[in-house]
Amino acid sequence: MAGMTISKLSKMKASGDKIVSVTAYDASFAKLFAQCGIDFMLVGDSLGNVVQGQSSTLPVTVEQIAYHTEAVRRGAPDAFVMADMPFMSYATPEQACVEAAKLMRAGANMVKLEGGDWLLDTIRTLVDRSVPVCAHLGLLPQSVNVLGGYKIQGREQSAAENTVRQALALQQAGAQMLVLECVPTSLGQLISQKLDIPVIGIGAGAQTDGQILVMHDMFGLNSDYLPKFVKNFLADADDLQSAVELYIRQVKDGSFPGPEHTFE
Ligand code: KIV
Repeated sequence: MAGMTISKLSKMKASGDKIVSVTAYDASFAKLFAQCGIDFMLVGDSLGNVVQGQSSTLPVTVEQIAYHTEAVRRGAPDAFVMADMPFMSYATPEQACVEAAKLMRAGANMVKLEGGDWLLDTIRTLVDRSVPVCAHLGLLPQSVNVLGGYKIQGREQSAAENTVRQALALQQAGAQMLVLECVPTSLGQLISQKLDIPVIGIGAGAQTDGQILVMHDMFGLNSDYLPKFVKNFLADADDLQSAVELYIRQVKDGSFPGPEHTFE
């Protein structure tokens, strides 16, 4: 949506108006998503998988995210654009400042970082220096080698409690949004209730404040591996624009994600 800001997204949470987001990597799709009324776009490091054909997001560099952020910004000059900080680009607060500046200069409105407790100092440092931050908890694709695969997170009671605690700490440190990936619906709901900042889910149930999908998944372009939370909106639409509009409609009216797309 044109003229979107973080305060408008927060007001949407407060009024129960679902936030709809999708990844974008180039100008043409960014323009289409903006025309359809997507609330914000993410230049995700998932571009490693869906654009570059890598088997993980780990090879993606800051320069590549900056390149795609510039393209998205050209296609959607007034959109709210979030850019992912890729693997090992924010290992220290100092490094995070240098690398985040490249993404903000490329046109991002906000950067996203994966992780919990170890990021609190980094988030405080970035926010103090005027870089808005979105945190990311649950399944962390950049940690796939530590997690031992792309698995649902937070199923055990202790893991769920730890995720809630970390979400509150990230908010307290200054994060203004949270992406929550692949957790049980009950945990997605609990964290969304406990936090004041918008919680955007992907495989986190229908009760989060909004949803995000990788654009290729939304169009059914992912033939190799189909996570449970994915829906091909193009299957029920005549063209790309109608598919995006259907996705927006179904998130806004609460019919996506349905029980078949969520984890218990
Ligand atoms: O990189 C990405 O596309 C993401 C989404 C899965 C949230 O981080």
